[in-house]
Amino acid sequence: MTTLSIIGGTGLGQLAALTITRHETLSTPYGKPSADFLIGELHKKPVVFLARHGNPHHIPPHKINYRANLWALKQLGVKDIIAVAAVGGITPVMKPAHIAIPDQIIDYTYGREHTFFDGNDASVTHIDFSYPYSQKLRAALIHSAASLDLKVSPIGTYGCTQGPRLESGAEIARMERDGCDIVGMTGMPEAALARELDLHYASIAVIANWGAGKTANEITMAEIEENLHHGMANVGSLLQAFMSTYTS
Ligand code: HPA
Repeated sequence: MTTLSIIGGTGLGQLAALTITRHETLSTPYGKPSADFLIGELHKKPVVFLARHGNPHHIPPHKINYRANLWALKQLGVKDIIAVAAVGGITPVMKPAHIAIPDQIIDYTYGREHTFFDGNDASVTHIDFSYPYSQKLRAALIHSAASLDLKVSPIGTYGCTQGPRLESGAEIARMERDGCDIVGMTGMPEAALARELDLHYASIAVIANWGAGKTANEITMAEIEENLHHGMANVGSLLQAFMSTYTS
C-alpha cells in the first residue's frame, strides 16, 4: 500500500528520482484532480506523486481543484502528504533559496472551494486546526535536514494569498505585522482539506524571492526560477533523507 504522497508545486513538476510503475487517472465527486497520479518508488519506498499545477504546469493557484486532489489521494490509500511549495520570504531568515518547514498558517484566500463539509451533509463539522501541519511529519523532515547538515527553518507562519498576482508592498508589510514569515498561494485550502480527510500533512516551503517591497527591485520570474532551481536541489536531498527513515 502506498501511504505517502508528495505534492509538487512550482519548480517541482516532476521528481527526477521517482521510478514510475503506473499512472492513475482518477475522477472524484468534486471533479478532476490536477493531473494523473504517478505511482512508483522514490528511493525504494512507495510513493504517489501529484503535480499540483498540472502536467505540464498550467493551473494557476486559485483554479487548482484542491478538493479533487485531496479526495483522490485519500481514495488511493494515502495517509501522509509532503507538500512542496514555492514561497516568498518575509522575515529576515527567509532568504531566497532557503527552506522552511512551516508550523502555522494564516489564510488570506477567498472564493476557493475550501471544505468538504459544505452543508450538504446532515451534520455541521468543525475540524480542529490549532496545529495545521502534522507534528510527526514536520519532526521527520526537520530530523532529515539535520542529518544532512542542511539549514532549514524548523518553524514559520505561512500566509496564503489568493494570487495569481504577487502582493503589493503594503500587503506584505501587513502580513509581516500579522506574523507571517513566508507567503505562498497554494497552502490553503490544501492543508485544511487534508485535515478534514484525516490525512497527515506537512510542507517543505522553498523561498523563491523576497516578498514584495522587501527590496527596491520588482520581483521577476527569472529570479524566482533561479532561486527555485537552487532550492529544489536541496529539496531532492531532503526528500531522499526523509524517505530513508519513512515508515508508513
Ligand atoms: N508571493 C506569493 N506566492 C509566491 C511568492 C510570493 O512572493 N513567491 C513564490 N510564490
